[in-house]
Amino acid sequence: MKTYISYCAIAFMTASVGLAQAAERPADVPEGMGALPASVPVPADNPMTPAKVELGKQLYLDPALSKSGNISCNSCHNLGSWGVDNQVRSIGHKWQRGGRNAPTSFNAAFWSTQFWDGRAPQLEDQAKGPPMNPVEMADDTEAQLVARLQEAGYGPEFDKVFGKNGLSFNNMAKAIGAFERTLLTPDAPFDRYVRGEGDISAAAKRGMKKVDDIGCTSCHSGPLFTNNTFQQFNYGTDTGREAVTGKHDDDHYFRVQSWRNVAMTAPYFHDGSVKTLSEAVRIMARVQLGTKLSDADVADIVAFLKTLTGTPPSVTYPVFPRPAGHALNWMD
Ligand code: HEC
Ligand code: HEC
Repeated sequence: MKTYISYCAIAFMTASVGLAQAAERPADVPEGMGALPASVPVPADNPMTPAKVELGKQLYLDPALSKSGNISCNSCHNLGSWGVDNQVRSIGHKWQRGGRNAPTSFNAAFWSTQFWDGRAPQLEDQAKGPPMNPVEMADDTEAQLVARLQEAGYGPEFDKVFGKNGLSFNNMAKAIGAFERTLLTPDAPFDRYVRGEGDISAAAKRGMKKVDDIGCTSCHSGPLFTNNTFQQFNYGTDTGREAVTGKHDDDHYFRVQSWRNVAMTAPYFHDGSVKTLSEAVRIMARVQLGTKLSDADVADIVAFLKTLTGTPPSVTYPVFPRPAGHALNWMD
């Protein structure tokens, strides 16, 4: 069961968000496309409160979640660079590279499942992965991580949010999930256009029509520019969802990535193998639609995708709890 929280409710927790005005939707916007939804799904067992969001922000930014004391969620999903690290494959514990490119944490609250292969149902499940991943934050046990957070001084903060003895691995994930639901990017130029509040270039308008005419929007549909399903992408050696379900029918299936902020999250695809957006567009057309696009069409589509760059959340840097007079026991 999920409830929905409106931007107005989120606005008091984070930055203010522009109010939509009732104006005309331009006639050339294809059916289905629309402005970023004004509310995100919130699981019934993890309601958002300002204190929980604030704690989640600390945990998201705090390298104390990692064994080395050096890696935070923000190392790979940097809030200053559109929720990504712009690496082909992220750098984690002891300089190790993981197997996939880091997708953005921005708007992740909208995805039906988390990870390229959808192996985590929602943000709270996802947040339990990185701390225990040997090539990411590399904690040996959940207990070790919880003990470090306790020693850092997080106990009272968790108690304030979750009640007595609130500091636990589960509640850590809940707080992070609540914070991530504030990482939304409204008011992209396309959103303003669709609401009749602003214009986009002639090239972008041609690109908008093109992606609809040739069928990109059969997968990248709706206001999120993803239909949130898994689709086969016969590219590279990663078997994608097959490794999750064990079914050969799921070979090379990946969640359709959103186009929101895609211009800012290079390199592209689950393996980060493609450096430029224009190349990614060309490959998609060829592999998914069997179409060879002209240079002019690629340029128009890229111009359109650039109008989907929204307003990033404005986040003030927190002070982390730390013990006075001694350092935490970081390990190699
Ligand atoms: C060392 C780099 C690294 C760290 C640290 C890291 N992540 Fe990630 N994150 C990734 C990579 C790589 C993926 C994609 C992995 C996959 O799909 O198999 C990912 C996936 C995600 C996703 C899924 C997004 C989507 O579109 O499906 C979310 C949300 C996320 N991470 C949040 C977090 C949070 C919260 C933390 C801290 C608890 C964190 N990450 C720590 C690299 C990292
Ligand atoms: C059959 C469904 C389908 C169609 C049609 C489709 N895509 Fe995709 N698209 C996907 C999937 C699945 C992914 C994730 C690919 C991966 O795992 O790397 C994706 C990823 C992308 C990405 C990279 C996103 C990122 O963050 O790395 C871009 C850009 C993109 N598509 C653009 C397009 C364009 C432009 C078209 C039309 C020419 C198109 N797509 C048609 C399913 C589709």
